[in-house]
Amino acid sequence: MQPRPFSAALPAPIKIRGRNISPTWQQNLISIFLPHPTQPRTHAEEGESGCGGAGGRPRMFDDAGAVAVKRMRLWEEDEVEVEEEGMEVDAEPGWPWGTPAAGLSRAAAIVVADAAEPDFPVIYVNAAFESATGYRAHEVLGRNCRFLQFRDPRAQRRHPLVDPMVVSEIRRCLNEGIEFHGELLNFRKDGAPLYNRLSLIPMHGDDGYVTHVIGIQLFSEANIDLSSVSYPVYKQQTNNRPSIQDLNSASHEHAPKVQSADHCGILQLSDEVLAHNILSRLSPRDVASIGSVCTRMHELTKNDHLRKMVCQNAWGRDATVKLEMSTKMVGWGRLARELTTLEAASWRKFTVGGRVEPSRCNFSACAVGNRLVLFGGEGVNMQPMDDTFVLNMEAARPEWRRVKVSASPPGRWGHTLSWLNGSWLVVFGGCGQQGLLNDVFVLDLDAQQPTWREVASEGPPLPRSWHSSCTLDGSKLVVSGGCTESGVLLSDTFLLDLTKEKPAWREIPTSWSPPSRLGHTMSVYGTTKLLMFGGLAKSGSLRLRSSDAYTMDVGEDSPQWRQLATTGFPNVGPPPRLDHVAVSLPCGRIIIFGGSIAGLHSPAQLFLVDPAEEKPTWRILNVPGKPPKFAWGHSTCVVGGTRVLVLGGHTGEEWILNELHELCLASRPDDDDDDRY
Ligand SMILES: Cc1cc2nc3c(=O)[nH]c(=O)nc-3n(C[C@H](O)[C@H](O)[C@H](O)COP(=O)(O)O)c2cc1C
Repeated sequence: MQPRPFSAALPAPIKIRGRNISPTWQQNLISIFLPHPTQPRTHAEEGESGCGGAGGRPRMFDDAGAVAVKRMRLWEEDEVEVEEEGMEVDAEPGWPWGTPAAGLSRAAAIVVADAAEPDFPVIYVNAAFESATGYRAHEVLGRNCRFLQFRDPRAQRRHPLVDPMVVSEIRRCLNEGIEFHGELLNFRKDGAPLYNRLSLIPMHGDDGYVTHVIGIQLFSEANIDLSSVSYPVYKQQTNNRPSIQDLNSASHEHAPKVQSADHCGILQLSDEVLAHNILSRLSPRDVASIGSVCTRMHELTKNDHLRKMVCQNAWGRDATVKLEMSTKMVGWGRLARELTTLEAASWRKFTVGGRVEPSRCNFSACAVGNRLVLFGGEGVNMQPMDDTFVLNMEAARPEWRRVKVSASPPGRWGHTLSWLNGSWLVVFGGCGQQGLLNDVFVLDLDAQQPTWREVASEGPPLPRSWHSSCTLDGSKLVVSGGCTESGVLLSDTFLLDLTKEKPAWREIPTSWSPPSRLGHTMSVYGTTKLLMFGGLAKSGSLRLRSSDAYTMDVGEDSPQWRQLATTGFPNVGPPPRLDHVAVSLPCGRIIIFGGSIAGLHSPAQLFLVDPAEEKPTWRILNVPGKPPKFAWGHSTCVVGGTRVLVLGGHTGEEWILNELHELCLASRPDDDDDDRY
């Protein structure tokens, strides 16, 4: 967070998320800044409402706090209600994070920190904070709020059960000046554990710099057994740390014993510093290697919190959220290893219930969490279909179900269906009853009454089919190439930011574009980078299957397409193809398989490339199991981050959709032999 010198005057206008805030809010905030609230209250000022006065009218900021809490969507799914008079948070019957802590914690606690001073010192706390935490304002002002993560006020370190992932996320949000919403374990001054549903909202001055951060805390009782701490990283150093003798015997069985004073400095670091500040910054592969150095490193690196943090640093948050399910049984260490080595990858075939009727081809499918969604397609006599089906892979017996939608986009085939954040989907283009389309429709699969809604977007690209699409950040739709009504192949790349109130298409201007094409794939790696592969590409006066790969970093100021120069043996790369499949792995590598290929090549052969490598090389992946026989005109989705589902295939008479093939990239929970790192 970029601080600016603190000024006692209210910076006006104040912005939240870059927008000017309402005059009421501003008025309320004036009470934060003027008069400066760093003075601890006297007992007389505290009156009856001081520490422990739940129902009492708290100090000057509370009205502001009430408005703040009332107006702000603290969480995606629920708006916190605050009663006008008592300013208490309604504990709904379904209060999802436990019973509010006895007495005072029904009210939202509020803290304001000065972002212009190092380490975000607290400049204000309300009475609800005092009563929920047991700390009085004068004990808190000037300190950083992390003391709530320490069980004993004199403790030197966070409690082991405080999730370091959440703490590191708070740190990231504060550094980037963005909001944080999450839950973590805190402690009252008397040591009682509390769940804290915490929201941090940065306040911007008119120059855009963050001047203050408002913290809103909803505390509730945490009924947890603190005696069974399961996080070895933070266990008492003296008990946990192996002796020098242990260390020596683990790594150099017969090495001479040395005195601790002569020993390498790194071994004198506390477990917390080693785990948090050093190991968590390494790659998953390096953490695995370091774990084999000695007993102490082995103990530290087999910790699942640490492994998760390492994976998140390397692969990004979205990828780790998707992978969470896969780690339930195997743990982050083993999952990281399996996704790195692909040692557990295998094919399997299975049958699901229900039917996608009428039968069809050229549909489009994508995954929403652990569900697979299919939209449209080409029925008999080239009939464009407009129905939506869902297959829940988490169900004990997955079966296709038609989604009852109250409105549908016009029927189509040769379109794209892509996943957006949460449970949202987006459809673009394709071939409809009246010809080619360039419209955009979105659907929230989890809405009570799912409805496809057309997005009125300015400056759309030409109507097209057989283009390719992907989404960046779960919210920006990228469309490239395809074929126009007159059969012309396209080479353009367009981006539509669906977070905008009035989304407008933007063509990404590049000085050079890959030859125009259809039936190619676009994959995302490294958050903002695109890899285009294959398709039917224009080559002089011909149209040929392509095996070329191109990359572009949309995050650059002026993004450019570049041909991916791969090294290695000639003919090791995937043979030219169209209508194939590209799967992005969390670690940025991409797998290509299937499609329409000339000659005798096996369509199910898997090719792997890491486009981020200095010298990218195609590798062939030999995977056991039963691969799909029909590997053209199918669709794939990556469910739960590790399961690549291949659907579609033709028996000669009809398209079958209830026989699926799955490329499992990691061991499934039921394969588990508990071989954790
Ligand atoms: C205004 C504000 C309020 C905060 N409130 C809490 C809180 O209630 N509980 C908590 O554990 N951390 C809270 N934090 C986060 C910590 O102060 C700290 O930023 C976090 O532990 C990450 O930094 P660290 O790794 O240096 O400790 C708050 C931070 C700010 C700026």
